[in-house]
Amino acid sequence: MPYPYQIQSMEEYQTAWKKSEEDPEGFWGEIAENFLWRKKWDKVLTWNFKEPDIKWFSGAKLNITENCLDRHLETRGNELALIWEPNNPEDHHRLLTYEQLHFKVNQFGNVLRNNGVKKGDRVCIYMGMVPELAIAVLACARVGAIHSVIFGGFSAQSISDRIQDAHAEFVITCDGSFRGAKEIPLKPIIDDALVSCPFVKRVIVLTHTHAPISMIKDRDVRWEKEIHKVENLGNPPCIPEEMDAEDMLFILYTSGSTGKPKGVVHTCGGYMVYTNYTFVNVFQYKPGELHFCTADVGWITGHSYIVYGPLSAGATTLMFEGVPTWPDAGRFWSIVDKYQVNILYTAPTAIRSLMSYGLEPLKDKKLDSLRVLGTVGEPINEEAWHWYDEHVGKKKCPIVDTWWQTETGGIMISNLAGITPSKPSYATLPLPGVHPVLVDEKGQEIVGNDVTGNLCLLGPWPSILRTTYGDHERCRLNYFNTYPGLYFTGDGCHRDEHGNYRITGRVDDVLNVSGHRLGTAEVENAINMHTDVIESAVVGYHHDIKGQGIYAFVIYGGEEDEDDFTRKAISLTVVRVIGVIARPDKIQFVKGLPKTRSGKIMRRILRKIAEGETSNLGDTSTLLDPSVVEDIAKGAIK
Ligand code: WTA
Repeated sequence: MPYPYQIQSMEEYQTAWKKSEEDPEGFWGEIAENFLWRKKWDKVLTWNFKEPDIKWFSGAKLNITENCLDRHLETRGNELALIWEPNNPEDHHRLLTYEQLHFKVNQFGNVLRNNGVKKGDRVCIYMGMVPELAIAVLACARVGAIHSVIFGGFSAQSISDRIQDAHAEFVITCDGSFRGAKEIPLKPIIDDALVSCPFVKRVIVLTHTHAPISMIKDRDVRWEKEIHKVENLGNPPCIPEEMDAEDMLFILYTSGSTGKPKGVVHTCGGYMVYTNYTFVNVFQYKPGELHFCTADVGWITGHSYIVYGPLSAGATTLMFEGVPTWPDAGRFWSIVDKYQVNILYTAPTAIRSLMSYGLEPLKDKKLDSLRVLGTVGEPINEEAWHWYDEHVGKKKCPIVDTWWQTETGGIMISNLAGITPSKPSYATLPLPGVHPVLVDEKGQEIVGNDVTGNLCLLGPWPSILRTTYGDHERCRLNYFNTYPGLYFTGDGCHRDEHGNYRITGRVDDVLNVSGHRLGTAEVENAINMHTDVIESAVVGYHHDIKGQGIYAFVIYGGEEDEDDFTRKAISLTVVRVIGVIARPDKIQFVKGLPKTRSGKIMRRILRKIAEGETSNLGDTSTLLDPSVVEDIAKGAIK
């Protein structure tokens, strides 16, 4: 039995969940015995949610890469750790066994050390989906540096903000990356970002697209040349840094309800145990199987279920550089057949987008290697669920609908493939160690079944965020202060008559656009950066493919006409400030915004208008000027 903690039946699930509730220390301590520790812990758990101060496996020493690589060498050194499928199906794919991946991580770990990277240093990684991205992440972990991966869709301004917030003195990037028919420049964006980050000492640039790029003396070096230097030294092993279980492993920036993204901090020990446990149990991974998670490593899903979860379990993980619709909308299905993928984990947005191409792209695709399907990142509508079930899974593959967050590190609520029942559009049951609580606006717990409320979590699980980088108070206020004693998720949730959970979407000012998290305040700030914008308000609205679209109400004070040209100028400003992922779908010019006498924008009304409602806008009597509502409703964009 390769994973003694892999749950085999509904009864075992119930027993595990109960044990995790009654004796969390005993429960997680036993699971943690299955990992490689340099030194075992003195105490499994100490915590309070007041400060918050949460410590798992205090006193334990480890290096997560010894768990992801070294410990597999003897048993599965020649088996595949990572398969890479390039953007263009005609280019060469790459296969790395555990031995080869171990070798490459050691090499690049030495490159990092040669370039002055030390334990605790922050390293910003801005790369495309190439194997070297996973190698860079693991090499950071090997030398004890804290990685901060930034998704390729963010702008220079966003990167610069993140590099400054973490004071990252090292950057790893590529000349560029491929996305379908497009070539994305990455190094030029880094160059722009670094204009305001003069403290950056070293930029290591991987050659991938072979685009000409600038290389700045004494700052920029080529990945390949640095590797040569290590080769010339005879490729010595890269001795893993001994890390404390609570030392930082990485920072990952994510959006909240305020304007500035926050750096969510995860630490080594608890994150390792939890991502491994959830990977093995939710997907019911069997040794030798191939796991394909289509997320980008720039998001938490890629961190946890392309890199750390699968590799710590000795699994084979597949990384894909391209997009699901290029060269055609059968790209995912071709990859599944080409490599005989067993587990496919993707986002509802991708499923809805592929649905819109009909069944033609699925013709001639066997898909008979698939055993488990998964979704993540946003609520899945029943139509998309059934399409996935019928046309991809051929009604033979359990679908796991996994609810979790950047802050939770790993999957929190989900069925276990083939072990606990699924229910379309429901994430279903909490994993062992997870204790959901629904509360009303006042923070009163809502007990019983068939109820709806705000989703909170009671007590810590091993991969809960520990802080937000450089600002612990912000972490406390954001997650632990709204409902004292509880972690507040920001999501609304329904619990059905059998205790299954269905996530209904964010109840705070966070949007979920194509599974990407964005704060309305963040987008408003970006729109307001346009010289002639006086004020703006952003809300989400139902979008058939993206889940949510961005609807912006803008008070414009410029001389130009309020037309598409001006809309484009505003959109481009947002793209500059945040990145392409935040481009508004609709911009409506308005004369005023619905504000209360205290100056607060009544978003409830704007949300209704954005959803196409023009009458029944609710009580507007508390507004400073109720007549603006009528004007806005008249000009609404369909
Ligand atoms: C949403 C992604 C419904 C939710 C792993 C959460 C979901 C936010 C689901 C976190 C799901 C994630 N069903 N909603 N299965 N999974 N969400 O930090 O609103 O990018 O709070 O983490 O995505 O997004 P994040």
